[in-house]
Parts: sequence; structure tokens; C-alpha cells
Amino acid sequence: MYFSSSVSKCAIMIHVFAMQLLLINSELPLNTTNAYLNHKCLVSNGKYKPGSEYAKQLKLTIKNFYSDSGNKEGYTLLGGDGFSAILQCRGDSYGPKCRDCYATAVAALRRKCPSYKAMIIWYDQCLVSFDTKYSTGQIDYDNNFCMSNAKKLGGDKFAFIRTWNTFMDNLTTLATRVDKDTKRSPLYAVGETRFKGDMMYGMVQCTKDIPDKACEECLVYNSIRFQDCLNDKRGARFINRSCTFRFEFYPFIAKQVRNI
Ligand SMILES: *[C@@H]1O[C@H](CO)[C@@H](O)[C@H](O)[C@H]1NC(C)=O
Ligand SMILES: *[C@@H]1O[C@H](CO)[C@@H](O)[C@H](O)[C@H]1NC(C)=O
Ligand SMILES: *[C@@H]1O[C@H](CO)[C@@H](O)[C@H](O)[C@H]1NC(C)=O
Repeated sequence: MYFSSSVSKCAIMIHVFAMQLLLINSELPLNTTNAYLNHKCLVSNGKYKPGSEYAKQLKLTIKNFYSDSGNKEGYTLLGGDGFSAILQCRGDSYGPKCRDCYATAVAALRRKCPSYKAMIIWYDQCLVSFDTKYSTGQIDYDNNFCMSNAKKLGGDKFAFIRTWNTFMDNLTTLATRVDKDTKRSPLYAVGETRFKGDMMYGMVQCTKDIPDKACEECLVYNSIRFQDCLNDKRGARFINRSCTFRFEFYPFIAKQVRNI
């Protein structure tokens, strides 16, 4: 399946306007590193041959996404018969940061999954996925993982689970709340809460191809599924292709954005 650039841009790309949240930005002096997290070559989808239609489609998409990656939305989607692609940057990574992450991710995919038709890679600040099927708009139940800080929190596990659950609920509510101006929900929220005198910073995000309801389902499902990984840790995150949650005891978002 091959789409010309204009078709892919005008007809297929799902476009969402920049969200208009009420924001309080306070600059924090912090390391905003962009660590590599994980990747997956979807081996069962096979490899493409040089010069094939698939190779051309992939090459064109990679190029088009590069142009789009610097936009202020921080994501780009392409979905069609037999091919789909997603670039989703973290909510605080748009413009040059999103583009940098995209360029890093694509270069790494070329090394790690040479000639594979379908592949996914995750960095702190972005997710890049190419697939042989129309997969945007569906929750991806197959590609997910959880990482946590080796350090345990210690102390009262149940108190932590209670705080963490409420915190997660609060962030999920913010992320899936429809903004009255844009009529869309941000699918992204950050916040902070106190746990026994320490500040805990959290973030939830869903990829822009899924609707609110699916975003909520994805977050809830995974927070239950990954309870053991998340609980009693000095920081942890789960990552699905469709949604992610992260908390740390230090601020990790470039601009701490508070949703009111
Ligand atoms: C930034 O990273 C360096 C090295 O990892 C660390 O020593 C330093 O404390 C970090 N600074 C902040 C503000 O987190
Ligand atoms: C959750 O939100 C409620 C209502 O805004 C707030 O009172 C509470 O402190 C929040 N809890 C956490 C853990 O974020
Ligand atoms: C995330 O991925 C896991 C992995 O299989 C899956 O079981 C879980 O259901 C996924 N969650 C969602 C909602 O995508």
C-alpha cells in the first residue's frame, strides 16, 4: 500500500488542535534527559525488501514525520490499509525536542530492527511505531512493560497504594476531561502530591489516536496489571503502546505544568 505524501497528509492524518489548558508554568532547573527505554522488532510481521513498495512507504513516512515532528502538537499519526505509523512525544516535548527525540528514535530503529516492517521504540520523550496493519485508534494490548526504581520506598505499603491510587485517578481524570474550548481532552496530565513529607511527581499520557474512554481504560487496566511493579517504589512507570503512567520523587517534566 502506497500513499502519496499529499494524500497521507491531508486525508489520513488525524489532526487534533493544540490543547488549551489553563497552565501555570514554573521553570525548574532539572535534567531533562531523554533515555532510551525499550524497543521491539515485531518479527512475525517479517522484513521488507529494498526497493519494495513497503520500503518506499516507510521511507516517505519517515521523511514526512520528520517535517511534522517539529510542530507544536508533539505528535503525528498515519493510518491506512496495511501500514500505520505513530510519533507521540511526551506532553512537554514538542517542537525541537520532539524532533530530536524522533531523529534519535528513527536512527536507533534502523540499527536495532534493520529491514523489519513493524517496530516500536520508546524513549523518555517519545514513542515511535511503524506497523503493517491499521493499528492507530486501537488499544494495543501486546506491547507494554513496566520499569521501576530498584530502591524500595519501605514503610507503609498500604498508605502508599492509597496515595498512589488517588493520585493516578486524579491525573487520569484531568487527562480525559474534555476541555470546554477545544472540545477535546488533553490525554496528558501532570501533577504532584505529597507522600509523607516527600513530593511525588506524576504524569499520565495516552497516544492521540485513541479516544478518552479508551485512554481511561488503558490507564486503569495497566495500573492494576502492574501494581507489583509500581507499588512501594521510589519511582516507576508502565508503558503501553497506547498509554503510560510515571511517577518519581523528583520533578521530571521540563516545565512542571499544573492543570487547574
Ligand atoms: C543532573 O544529572 C546529574 C548527573 O546524572 C546529577 O548529578 C544531578 O544531580 C542532576 N541534577 C538535577 C537537578 O537533577
Ligand atoms: C486528588 O484530587 C483531590 C481533589 O482535587 C485532592 O483533594 C487530592 O489531594 C488529590 N490527591 C492526590 C493524591 O493527588
Ligand atoms: C498494555 O499492555 C498489556 C500487555 O499485554 C496488556 O495486557 C495490557 O492489557 C495493555 N494494556 C493496554 C490497555 O493496552
